[in-house]
Amino acid sequence: MPPAPGRPAAPPPGATAAQPPAPGRPRPRRRAPPCAPQAVHKQPGGEPLLDVVTEEGQEVAGLPAGDCCLQNERDDTVDDLVKSDFLHEPGILHTLQVRYGLDSIYTYSGNILIAANPHKRLRQLYGPRMMAQYRGVPLGELSPHVYAIAEQAYSAMMMDEARQAILISGESGAGKTESAKMVMQYLAHRAMPAHQHQHALGGASVARTGSGGGGGGAAAPTNGVESAPIEEQVLESNPLLEAFGNAKTSRNDNSSRFGKFVEIDFDSGGRVAGASISTYLLERCGAAVAVWAPSRSYLFFYQLLEGGAASFRYLHQSDVYTLTDVDDAQEFRHTLEAMRIVGLQQHHVDAVLRTVAGVLHLGNVDFTLSSRDEAAVAGGAGIAALEAAARLLGVSDLGLEAALTTRAIDARGERIVKRLDAGAAAESRDALAKTLYARLFDWLVAAINRKINSLGSGGGAASGQQQRRSIGILDIYGFESFDLNSFEQLCINLANERLQQQFNAHVFKGEQEEYAREGIAWSYIDFVDNQDCLDLLEGGAASLGVFPLIDEACRLPRATYQARLRWSKDLAHTLRTRLAGQPRFGAPRRQQHAFVVDHYAGEVCYSAEHLMDKNKDFVVAEHAHLLGSSSLPMIRELFAADAAAAAAGGAAADSIAASAGSELPSPKRGRRSAFMLSSVGARFRKQLAGLMGTLGRCQPHYIRCVKPNAESRPGSLAPEYVLEQLRAGGVLEAVRIACAGFPTRKPFLPFAQRYALLLPEAAAGAKGGGGALSLPLTPSGFIDCQLDGWQLGRSRVFLRAGQLAQLEGARGRRLSAAAVKVQSAWRGMEARRQLRAARAAAVAIQAAWRGRAGRAAARQLRQDRAAVRLQAAWRMHRQRSAYQLQRR
Ligand SMILES: Nc1ncnc2c1ncn2[C@@H]1O[C@H](COP(=O)(O)OP(=O)(O)OP(=O)(O)O)[C@@H](O)[C@H]1O
Ligand SMILES: [Mg+2]
Repeated sequence: MPPAPGRPAAPPPGATAAQPPAPGRPRPRRRAPPCAPQAVHKQPGGEPLLDVVTEEGQEVAGLPAGDCCLQNERDDTVDDLVKSDFLHEPGILHTLQVRYGLDSIYTYSGNILIAANPHKRLRQLYGPRMMAQYRGVPLGELSPHVYAIAEQAYSAMMMDEARQAILISGESGAGKTESAKMVMQYLAHRAMPAHQHQHALGGASVARTGSGGGGGGAAAPTNGVESAPIEEQVLESNPLLEAFGNAKTSRNDNSSRFGKFVEIDFDSGGRVAGASISTYLLERCGAAVAVWAPSRSYLFFYQLLEGGAASFRYLHQSDVYTLTDVDDAQEFRHTLEAMRIVGLQQHHVDAVLRTVAGVLHLGNVDFTLSSRDEAAVAGGAGIAALEAAARLLGVSDLGLEAALTTRAIDARGERIVKRLDAGAAAESRDALAKTLYARLFDWLVAAINRKINSLGSGGGAASGQQQRRSIGILDIYGFESFDLNSFEQLCINLANERLQQQFNAHVFKGEQEEYAREGIAWSYIDFVDNQDCLDLLEGGAASLGVFPLIDEACRLPRATYQARLRWSKDLAHTLRTRLAGQPRFGAPRRQQHAFVVDHYAGEVCYSAEHLMDKNKDFVVAEHAHLLGSSSLPMIRELFAADAAAAAAGGAAADSIAASAGSELPSPKRGRRSAFMLSSVGARFRKQLAGLMGTLGRCQPHYIRCVKPNAESRPGSLAPEYVLEQLRAGGVLEAVRIACAGFPTRKPFLPFAQRYALLLPEAAAGAKGGGGALSLPLTPSGFIDCQLDGWQLGRSRVFLRAGQLAQLEGARGRRLSAAAVKVQSAWRGMEARRQLRAARAAAVAIQAAWRGRAGRAAARQLRQDRAAVRLQAAWRMHRQRSAYQLQRR
């Protein structure tokens, strides 16, 4: 296979000279910055030596050529990394760095969009006018943009009638949520008839969904919700869910604490018909009850309180109350507005506000020890908070106090009511607050879904049709690795492993299987298959994995905190012994409570402490019973299933666990605790499996968001920091395979029909059976276009990166040359016709004019002759008279 054009040296088979080597082989030196070559010294029999100038302007002489990462000459103009001359890591980073400096935050890597967070408003990049430019334009024709990816998905959906998915990933603060909102805005704009664009998107919705939630508010529909178009309802679900599910963290002031998959349905005319939202609330609302500076709790708390946050324990643990450039009062109005637009009725809005306020007051209930070491509500402030919480939640204060301070245990058929100590009562209070908040969030999502599904076609996420005109947008947490990693990171990284596998399947496996099916000569490039890592996490055919082992440990009830701590240590021991020897597992010697997983994006060390606590998602039966009998219908609704189950006894408790997706068996019979257990990990894995199933039925499009530096500073891109993200997002591997493989493929007939005009005349005239054009193509057989290395498969033509553009360019040139010929022939003909007409007209005018002049001349002549005759007659008369006078 000949090398791709522009490559400097002959590559090994199946690879290009400038690409990084396949995994397993040593990569080029990552840290060496790209440098510009000055002179080459050939060594007989050895590697050439180069004199180079480094990026910092330093001259270095005599470097072995293999050690030098050469700089691309046109970093700023290459908007697709695949088109770079040199595609090594420093080269890619240099290109991104130069582009970022010029505010070109988007760059393609083949079909993947890399979006670097600008951390500043780039107004010229967005808005209806920009959207109009990308409308109907194929990917790659205009500058890289998130709108171009949305357009690609939209046109593929309309053309192929297939489900599409736009997968947006990146680390916290990289810009996933902003990109997802822009995709949704574009789709809403694209789906609208042209005359509505200005009205619908120039106004409320676009302004509202800007970052940080700022901007002008939507005009309130006159009678609540009925007049809000479906597009607006879908867009307005964003600020609403952000208010309840986003919180400030050290890395992002507006960090989504949940993953989200929004699937927008379109009708046959391409208009939005409905949507469905699935959320993945990983944190199980830990941020509702425990936050430390510089983080804050969920945004809505601060919006509701507008400066009064310091009075509530759940908020004053962190002394960060306000955000720069965010006006909580205005945001509160926006959230209420969004609630109305998505269709919540006033009594529902009131119930939501009461629940949130109830959670806050609940947090202020303090406990102290009574004389018998039993928890009692502390002091006047504690009692006032308890009463306020009870009133807001529609329950009695005595009932609430009992639910927080006692626990009933069934032992050998006997029901024993045990009073908790102060610590356990505080834990119980926080568990209730978390459960309430989590269920409120799920209720909101369900309420939005009911509205946006019923307004449209009625098709929702639930319908698993293969053929469905829909575009799903996945905004999900990227790979995470901190100094201290726990259950959240384990789940996040599992999700990323699954998505990476899907990415592998799409980009790598799919490619290679396709080449094999089509009989394409192809030197296979290895890719890092992460199935072994998934087996380690989830369990494979032969062994249990990390998650099943945590579930197994959770099955045994642990009574006290100390006992739980001991069992956490035991869990670390269990994991380290039972998973020892698995290829992706490591047990660090110095940290006995930790284990290491070698993920596709690097090794992550997890602490086994708190894994069990975080995996247990239990609802205390007393809480469920109390709130299930609340005087407020919405709160009753939140706990209806649990209350029914609690009333029905233990068997029902099992059914709750089952309905929540748990794989945990019920606690031992005979001594049943009053907890209704379910496993967060098991439920999350089940949700993930559903998501992967959906994504498997969609054509994927990828946006990889990149955070340019850890400090969220505008204007500077830290290469090492970005490199890790590119690697974690699989971008580097995708670049490699895109360059080495055949990213463009076209069926024979459309290809022949489209490019037949580029064949020499003899070949173009040849016809195959049935009138179809035959393909007497040879590698150099195109006019005006030199293509190397492309191949004919069994059913399709396989082109290398950039070759389609060359063909299109040549076709464009040929068509415009032909058009020029046709135009000139037509113009000639037209000019001749006009000339003939003009000449005929001139002759006619001349003839008429000459006739007129002739007639005038003849008239003159006649007059002259008549005058002469008259003169002659007069003279004759005069002479005759004179003569006769003389004669006389
Ligand atoms: N295209 C953009 N233009 C301007 N600012 C942006 C853009 N993308 C992101 N930002 C800024 O970066 C911040 C973080 O972005 P965003 O909330 O989308 O990150 P995220 O990847 O969703 O993070 P998390 O995983 O924590 O939710 C935004 O609040 C906004 O200020
Ligand atoms: Mg986000």
